[in-house]
Amino acid sequence: MVRLVLLCFVYSLPGPPKATFDTGTYQLYPVNKRLCPEFDPKRDATFDLYTKANNNTSQVLQIGNDSSLVNSYINFRIPTILFFHGYLESSHSEDGIKIKDNYLKIGEYNVILVNIERLLAGPFYVTSALNVKPIGKYTAGFVDYLVKKGLDLNNLHIIGMSLGAHIAGYVGKNLESGRPPRITGLDPAGPLLDFVPQNERLSIGDADFVDVIHTNAGIFGTRFSVGDVNIWFNGGTFQPGCDPITALKRVPGSIAEVVFCNHYQAWRIYVKTIINPKEYLATKCKNHHDYRKGKCIRNETTYAGMNVSKTARGDYYVDTGVTAVNV
Ligand SMILES: *[C@@H]1O[C@H](CO)[C@@H](O)[C@H](O)[C@H]1NC(C)=O
Ligand SMILES: *[C@@H]1O[C@H](CO)[C@@H](O)[C@H](O)[C@H]1NC(C)=O
Ligand SMILES: *[C@@H]1O[C@H](CO)[C@@H](O)[C@H](O)[C@H]1NC(C)=O
Ligand SMILES: *[C@@H]1O[C@H](CO)[C@@H](O)[C@H](O)[C@H]1NC(C)=O
Ligand SMILES: *[C@@H]1O[C@H](CO)[C@@H](O)[C@H](O)[C@H]1NC(C)=O
Repeated sequence: MVRLVLLCFVYSLPGPPKATFDTGTYQLYPVNKRLCPEFDPKRDATFDLYTKANNNTSQVLQIGNDSSLVNSYINFRIPTILFFHGYLESSHSEDGIKIKDNYLKIGEYNVILVNIERLLAGPFYVTSALNVKPIGKYTAGFVDYLVKKGLDLNNLHIIGMSLGAHIAGYVGKNLESGRPPRITGLDPAGPLLDFVPQNERLSIGDADFVDVIHTNAGIFGTRFSVGDVNIWFNGGTFQPGCDPITALKRVPGSIAEVVFCNHYQAWRIYVKTIINPKEYLATKCKNHHDYRKGKCIRNETTYAGMNVSKTARGDYYVDTGVTAVNV
């Protein structure tokens, strides 16, 4: 108990020293919300709203703060995208920003980028993985609050990258207002989460429909088929143009690109499908080997990403060529 109080005191000190490197956010000590569950919403988890009317400057929404909601541009008649970034990232990272920019280009959306950078900061991956549950629970409270204020749950699409995919699953498990219609997992994190029970990670049932894009299975991404439909790109683990030399050539000086190129292809693929929903046609197949041998050419197909078929079930495969997906 004393230990817990002490820890919570340390965790509640104002913004610990933080450094931003090419790969993301580092802190001198981690914020462990499993041990210390109170959230400071100004610091630990913010909900950054973008719409066509504010496509470059976010409005910060807070649970229970009606004036922040009423004074925002949120519109409950249009679809809402709720996005969770991954380990080492923030709501200002390229994945969320590109997803936001492209949705706002194609139509009317509320795009909410959840900022949990202090809870998913490096180098504390273990702490970050432990924070998945409390963040998910807290955000479920946020979604329930929006529903109370007029959000139609059927208009909500939750998307998560890496650890963020499991947080999205945890939102689905903890919602009191119902089950969300769709969760998209972008290469859901594998390390520390591959062998936990289904109720502690993204799984079928967290939404009416769970679709997953796999690009780094068995390394940073999960090796398992955790969604209703699982689309394995280029076999699911190694992506074209992601060998260290080619990756460095594409983004000079980026350690992140060398380390995470395969993993990050997942969000780039998703963004590509916002721009062109028919970019990737995936085929149902037993495995990548059979897919490559052409044994599955007469099987069912679905587009991957934004316009994936809601009736597709099981494992699908698609190869994308020889260069990395770039958006
Ligand atoms: C968009 O916002 C960023 C920082 O939030 C700022 O640097 C940039 O100038 C803004 N761009 C436009 C077009 O307003
Ligand atoms: C509620 O939100 C408004 C607008 O974003 C902000 O100015 C205000 O400080 C918030 N109130 C509380 C109690 O945090
Ligand atoms: C925001 O919208 C304006 C007007 O539609 C557009 O010119 C601009 O490129 C958009 N900015 C971003 C960051 O998408
Ligand atoms: C795909 O098609 C092959 C024959 O081309 C068939 O043997 C196999 O059962 C099908 N697999 C799935 C998953 O539908
Ligand atoms: C793709 O999905 C979007 C959003 O759900 C929808 O508005 C659009 O009509 C779909 N496009 C196609 C080509 O199916």
